[in-house]
Amino acid sequence: MRALRSLMAGIFAAGLLAAPVLASEEAPHPPAQKWSFGSVFGTYDLASAQRGFQVYSEVCANCHSMRLLHYRDLAGIGFSPEQIKAIASNVTVPMGIDDQGAPKEGKGTPASKFRSPFPNDNAARAANGGALPPDLSLIVNAREGEYDYIFALLTGYAEPPAKFAMQDGMNYNKYFPGHQIAMPKPLSDGQVTFADGTSASVEQMSRDLVMFLTWAANPEMVERKQMGVRIVLFLILMTGLTYAVKRKIWADVH
Ligand code: HEC
Repeated sequence: MRALRSLMAGIFAAGLLAAPVLASEEAPHPPAQKWSFGSVFGTYDLASAQRGFQVYSEVCANCHSMRLLHYRDLAGIGFSPEQIKAIASNVTVPMGIDDQGAPKEGKGTPASKFRSPFPNDNAARAANGGALPPDLSLIVNAREGEYDYIFALLTGYAEPPAKFAMQDGMNYNKYFPGHQIAMPKPLSDGQVTFADGTSASVEQMSRDLVMFLTWAANPEMVERKQMGVRIVLFLILMTGLTYAVKRKIWADVH
């Protein structure tokens, strides 16, 4: 009996000890960052989103598609029609089938979809050691932790801790669940040159990318917030008005 009880106590203690170890193997919670779109009156920082688009185009677009976007959508982050035309005409996009039945390509127009780096998922996997780079159109909404997680992921590459067994071709990341990600560290300081003179540190590029990707996944967020504020103001006004009317109607009844 006594042996059984001490065995139970032992199992219980082992469980208690094991719990924190298990927890520490999971990815840490991404730290909350300050974002211009964070508050009720928040809006996107358009200059930042434009820089983010540049980083996406020059770096991430080599592996990741953004199939839900058209070049004309870039008006939403403040690009002018001329700028959009220039951006689109710099890329080659699929243009249907020619007379011989072969796929055609041509200069993009504002109506073109964002160019995808690979014709299909199999080609994307084949080029990435079997791992599929996910489409980034809605990635901010598709991950727990949203924009803070994407920022943490992009800035979270590090040397694996001693004794951490890495699989071949994998990269250590503090915030990726399981810590082993097939995507090699995509950003390094000074990788792009921003026209506005902003220095392109990994942190700055990640911040700008998150601004761009959050807009891409939620282009209507600012209008939604403004509509919310208008509705609340309207409700406050109506409450006041209804109260005034009630006072007037019941003024003579005591
Ligand atoms: C060399 C190709 C390559 C480049 C360049 C690249 N990625 Fe990736 N990315 C991948 C692959 C492959 C995966 C899938 C990783 C996995 O499942 O282990 C991935 C996964 C991701 C994920 C999903 C992580 C998750 O939680 O599932 C995000 C977000 C991401 N990449 C963002 C970016 C951004 C932003 C850039 C540009 C700075 C970028 N990637 C550049 C190959 C790339």
